[in-house]
Amino acid sequence: STEGCRAAVAWAAGKPLSVEEVEVAPPKAQEVRVKIVASGICRTDDHVLGGYFPNIEFPVIPGHEGAGIVESVGEGVTSVKPGDKVIPLCLPQCGECCFCLNPDSNYCIKSHFSESQNLMPDKTSRFTCKGKQIHHFLWTSTFAEYTVMPEYAVAKIDAAAPLDKVCLLGCGFPTGYGAAINTAKVKPGSTCAVFGLGGVGLSVVMGCKAAGASRIIAIDINKDKFAKAKELGATDCVNPKDFTKPIHEVLMEMTGLGVDYSFEAIGHKDTLKAAFESTTVGWGTFVIAGVAVGEQSLPGSPPPSLEKSVPKLVSDYMAKKFDLDALVSHTLPFEKISDAFDPTIAGKSNRTIVVF
Ligand code: APR
Ligand code: ZN
Ligand code: ZN
Repeated sequence: STEGCRAAVAWAAGKPLSVEEVEVAPPKAQEVRVKIVASGICRTDDHVLGGYFPNIEFPVIPGHEGAGIVESVGEGVTSVKPGDKVIPLCLPQCGECCFCLNPDSNYCIKSHFSESQNLMPDKTSRFTCKGKQIHHFLWTSTFAEYTVMPEYAVAKIDAAAPLDKVCLLGCGFPTGYGAAINTAKVKPGSTCAVFGLGGVGLSVVMGCKAAGASRIIAIDINKDKFAKAKELGATDCVNPKDFTKPIHEVLMEMTGLGVDYSFEAIGHKDTLKAAFESTTVGWGTFVIAGVAVGEQSLPGSPPPSLEKSVPKLVSDYMAKKFDLDALVSHTLPFEKISDAFDPTIAGKSNRTIVVF
């Protein structure tokens, strides 16, 4: 039956989120309804509120970095059952398309990116509020207490995992960590540069460290980010504001030939260029880990890819292979969601999590 619950609705571009009572229809065949327990606040949700994505229609329930418990399943669902802990995949994994079958990619063809619309695959919505249909976002909409997803967009995880931490494995952490480990395939002993030290950039730093990089240069215009970057493995911290010359020249001088790997985790044209120009001629690798939107975007720049195996990341976290807790700077009750973006926008948050 339909569930009434709380959700944060963005009614129009440029308006703050508003907490509403919404109705969530039961899952149809091959769909799963999940009770969301915790959801991280990512810059991309803020870009939605700002109206920067031309394909996202309003009103919409954003949120794509969540963790929860399966409440009910539709006909034909076999991979999860009520009570299972799951993480919604904002890049679903059908497991059958050429991208899913290629170990070097996870840009699933059967995703909302290919369909350019923010409804469920059958082009309908499971959300209504005040008699109006509300759109989904990335098929996740984790700013709702109950949300409906295609079966192949949820990953079953360890039943012992703390949902208010592992929700970060839905977006921010794998975007950064996966950029270092899977996309760049950072080699031991190498030199890396990480532009931007938000949740994504700090996760890149962790990935570079885990891969055995011997020098990790962390770059941010906010010096308050440096202590955490050092704690997580940065060897040098550089503030472009301390120099008159361009930052790529500073990095060239620090390294001689440039860095082996550079990562952009900001989403700006200028820093994309600077990160590219900081790499060594010949073998340097430049990876885009941020999402550039609006005026800042480059023609044809693809979205970043995510680490493929979310359940394995959960087991690695449980085995203490990386420290996700270090990324969580703020935890707020769901009622405060309208204010939850403030610490991020003020540069005071690594990651903020809201709990239902
Ligand atoms: N040079 C260096 N650092 C910068 C610059 C700049 N010109 N401009 C901003 N920064 C820093 C900010 O000070 C901040 O610490 O980049 C960091 C960005 O962090 P967040 O805003 O917390 O963003 P995050 O959630 O980590 O996401 C990074 O990835 O998912 C995308 O849309 C998201 O584009 C964003 C990027
Ligand atoms: Zn995100
Ligand atoms: Zn696929």
